[in-house]
Amino acid sequence: MQTVASSTSVTSILVTRRLPEAVERSLRDEFGAVLNPDDHQFSADELREAIRSFDVLLCTLTDGLTRDVVATMPKRARLLANFGVGTNHIDLAAARDAGLVVTNTPGVLTDDTADLTLLLVLAVARRAGEGRRELQEATWGGWCPTHLLGTRVTGATLGIVGFGRIGQAVARRARLGFGMHILYHSPRPAPPGIEEALEVERAESLHSLLARSDFVSLHCPATPATRHLIGAEELARMRPSAFLINTARGDVVDETALIRALEQGTIAGAALDVFENEPRVRDPLRTLPNVFALPHLGSATVDSRVAMGDRVLVNIRAFLRGEDPPDRVA
Ligand code: GLV
Repeated sequence: MQTVASSTSVTSILVTRRLPEAVERSLRDEFGAVLNPDDHQFSADELREAIRSFDVLLCTLTDGLTRDVVATMPKRARLLANFGVGTNHIDLAAARDAGLVVTNTPGVLTDDTADLTLLLVLAVARRAGEGRRELQEATWGGWCPTHLLGTRVTGATLGIVGFGRIGQAVARRARLGFGMHILYHSPRPAPPGIEEALEVERAESLHSLLARSDFVSLHCPATPATRHLIGAEELARMRPSAFLINTARGDVVDETALIRALEQGTIAGAALDVFENEPRVRDPLRTLPNVFALPHLGSATVDSRVAMGDRVLVNIRAFLRGEDPPDRVA
């Protein structure tokens, strides 16, 4: 372990991964933060040592902040300032028990993640992966009327599971850009006025959304309650012509059931940006022709990543001033 040597400044901050240059500069200049120049992923031991030695951990989704790690004693840490909106890699209950404040970065990555969702919808429907492979492997035999015929997106029904910021941003794009009919499922109805403004319909149940949708797109947080929300039973409710899109978290889908459904033709295809055991992607999900997969790129634009860094800084500054940070989740 090379990075964890506690800073001599009053407040010591450890950053677990490389961040955009401008963000690292602010962290260094303002706080003398300790960075991770070789960008290696921290082990549980390194995270434990960080909790023992630093006031603030600027962490992210590759850091397994399990109960065992978070409960490290003696500890110096007071704040886990997460770079990212999803916090499923942090045991929030354990953090509360340990008296740690946890923050995230909502809002600033909404548009880019929603854009990528539409990329996935279009790519899997129009067989972009298969077409690209033909060019890469020099197997394209030329234009013909029956070559790689896909599925029309315009006017199709999109079922959105989880209707927070990103789900709503996807609905807006799909409705305005592609005239799609939008259903959504979420534990609570959308705030007043949203259904009318976005022209969306709340499905009676998850099962009814699954049965009525041509595309099912997941936008719920990964929590114990949503783990394997989409399993064999749910996939069987989908239409054989329908596609599953996941830009949320791999845990929300039972990958074994999904692979079986894709191989058996229970559903037509899937487009995935997230996986159950990243960065491991199971073979069929990398190679099946009816899967279009990307390596977790939802918020991967310069704009989002700089904005996420700025948001982390806002939370850290507020915390250090003794205020409640704006994006506190625990
Ligand atoms: C990215 O996946 C995030 O949770 O911000």
